[in-house]
Amino acid sequence: MSFTFIDEQLAQQKANNLDRNRVVLSQSTGRLLTFDGVEYINFSSNDYLGLAGHEAIKTSYINGIAQYGSSSCSSPLITGYTKAHQQLEENLADWLNAERCLLFSSGFSANCGVLNTLGQDASVGFHLDKLAHASLIDGAFNSKAKAKRFRHNDVSHLEKQLKSTACTSNLVVTEGVYSMDGDCAPLSAIKQISDANDAWLYIDDAHGIGVLGDDGSGTAKAQDLAIDNKVIQMATFGKAIATNGAVVAGNEELIEYFINRNREYIYSTAISPALALATNASIELCKRDTWRREKIQKLTELFINKLDNSIAVTATQSSIIGVIVGSEIDTLYCAQHLKELGFWLTAIRPPTVETGKSRLRVTITSNHNDNDISTLAESINEVIGKCLQNN
Ligand SMILES: Cc1ncc(COP(=O)(O)O)c(C=O)c1O
Repeated sequence: MSFTFIDEQLAQQKANNLDRNRVVLSQSTGRLLTFDGVEYINFSSNDYLGLAGHEAIKTSYINGIAQYGSSSCSSPLITGYTKAHQQLEENLADWLNAERCLLFSSGFSANCGVLNTLGQDASVGFHLDKLAHASLIDGAFNSKAKAKRFRHNDVSHLEKQLKSTACTSNLVVTEGVYSMDGDCAPLSAIKQISDANDAWLYIDDAHGIGVLGDDGSGTAKAQDLAIDNKVIQMATFGKAIATNGAVVAGNEELIEYFINRNREYIYSTAISPALALATNASIELCKRDTWRREKIQKLTELFINKLDNSIAVTATQSSIIGVIVGSEIDTLYCAQHLKELGFWLTAIRPPTVETGKSRLRVTITSNHNDNDISTLAESINEVIGKCLQNN
């Protein structure tokens, strides 16, 4: 019988409380979402700056559809590249302080595309942070390069790896902000070690873009990292920027190389021109509305201050806070009870996080208010308290 593992693995996932299910929302408008006729305060959205419903973005989208239609209808090297895409790439290069940019249809494909293209043989070494996103792991380990992981944010461990590598071209792969902990990579220290060992640096800033830096351009700006031609940045549009797609920013030759050799770029339909226009409008708001970043910071401080001291939280420097519960079953219990109190939070379990570190992932956005945050913290105190009593 073919594919008997499908049923077996599904059953195993269920037995281990690790089965994954989608929920069908009837409405999701920033701060609130509606599921099965009930309204919840949404603390699971990546719309960090609260821009998904912004009129300026919607208008640009609609105008883009009126001008270009609903799709690019082609890959970028055929007829899928328009003035809207070109303008977006130029604006992004300016914002990210890079020589050039290239658009991808998602962050997942951008990460896989870059690592597959650069990892062309075993002379290339990839050095990934232990907590790097699935798309970076897949891109690196499915390539022909030698891929290794270093302990999370452990610069000495990275240095050891770089000093002992036999690879002649090396790329250090980090995130700006880590998606399940909300902490940042120490980019300046990592860059120093990379430079000292003739390695390039790749920063996936999916969760830093829009949220960090005085102009919202991300973690590198927030940490005063000078962007030179050995830094590659990747950012997704589906989170703070509130559209869809992704960008890779790097030096002139690298981007030209990707246009010629990156299979994910070459053989995939370009994002729609309307989406490019909407993304351009969003970037202007990200740069301009510093109050959104300031509000996230204030609300995050309020949330942490209101939590009981006994509750473990991750060392956040962003919109993301991991409230550590521990076991999968306890985390599911807490998420379910918080839902009954009107809060929508996702239980994050292995393999997304380490076994024993299952957590509630709280994302704070500029759409939330002080009352949302205070009542959430009080409810978490109560629910986790009850859960620990039951153990
Ligand atoms: C760190 C990180 N990189 C890449 C991605 C993938 O981006 P996208 O959703 O645009 O495919 C995500 C999204 O979950 C992410 O968290």
